[in-house]
Amino acid sequence: MKAAIISLGSISSRWLADAMKKHFDTVDAIDIAELEVSLGEKQAQVLYQGKPLPKYDCIYARGSYRYAVLLRSITALLQKESYMPLRAASYTIGHDKILTHLKFQENNVPQPKTYLVTTSESAKKIIKKTKFPVIMKLPAGTHGKGVMLAESEESASSMIDALVLLKQPFLIQEYIDTDGKDYRCIVVGDQVVAAMKRIAAKGEKRANIHSGGQGQKIEVDEKTRRAAIMAARSCGLDICAVDILPSLKGPLVLEVNLSPGLQGITKVTNINVADKIASYLHAQTQRFKGIHKEQLLKELAPEQEIHGTLDYRGNRILLPEVVTMATKFKEDDELVIKATKGKIEIVKLGKKNKE
Ligand SMILES: Nc1ncnc2c1ncn2[C@@H]1O[C@H](COP(=O)(O)OP(=O)(O)O)[C@@H](O)[C@H]1O
Ligand SMILES: [Mg+2]
Repeated sequence: MKAAIISLGSISSRWLADAMKKHFDTVDAIDIAELEVSLGEKQAQVLYQGKPLPKYDCIYARGSYRYAVLLRSITALLQKESYMPLRAASYTIGHDKILTHLKFQENNVPQPKTYLVTTSESAKKIIKKTKFPVIMKLPAGTHGKGVMLAESEESASSMIDALVLLKQPFLIQEYIDTDGKDYRCIVVGDQVVAAMKRIAAKGEKRANIHSGGQGQKIEVDEKTRRAAIMAARSCGLDICAVDILPSLKGPLVLEVNLSPGLQGITKVTNINVADKIASYLHAQTQRFKGIHKEQLLKELAPEQEIHGTLDYRGNRILLPEVVTMATKFKEDDELVIKATKGKIEIVKLGKKNKE
């Protein structure tokens, strides 16, 4: 099977490409900066160095905030023919902390109390009723750089004046006192394959390694594990890192990271994270290709039988696309869903709003 990794060429991405070579027949390293999407003709195209991108069985696309829209477009165009571990929309959701928190809310992922504000007036109203210290964040910050701590109403108020100059919405979030600790979990499929506790440097509240945080290997408890997996699923990510605050109320999820660095976590945990990801990519690609075959067989077989595990988005079950195709259900169909332990039955009654 043929695979490609799209990236900015970081050390982590090179580790991943090397690990993938042990599982796939060929692995191409694609430089994200040389990709283009061409739209407007009958057939949209993804171009690499000016020529159509070859076909791959699996494409793992990584990149920073700057490339979010490009990666979303590429994924939207290629996800039908290649297994891609990040859904198209997840590139814009995961690079925006506001959209991420919204997904967490929709899927009951535990998170700190968070306000989204756009004007200085509304922000100042909120800090009048919040406890201090309080956290303020830019939606697209990384490495702890867009995260600010205000100790008092005066400092929060001056930060708000500076933030509104950027003319973009921002977040005001309750400060969770964890003594400067957080958990970084690497989620691969339905597993947390590696986790570390990060401890912020002295005089610092942000636990990011880039802000001087120190890592320590941990085994996460069941609640944290579930929160990490639900966070990843709610944003449409088969592979990502999830940052979690271990609070007295239980784990509270801060964000998902679509292209996590692997050096820190690999060194701290001694787990070959790149290989865990590569072998998962290989297994999922095989599964993906199997489902495609079933799609073809579907034309002949009146009844679909799919063997495998269910895909969860948070607490909800997402049925495979073949089910949509086989049942021919439409969005405005009126259905009866009967669910009992171990069984679901969905039967069409007719069209909704029929006169
Ligand atoms: N609400 C909060 N309460 C306490 N600490 C926080 C909070 N939000 C962020 N932090 C600290 O700041 C760090 C960076 O925040 P995060 O939301 O993960 O943004 P980034 O994308 O910059 O990593 C976290 O790892 C954590 O140590
Ligand atoms: Mg973070």
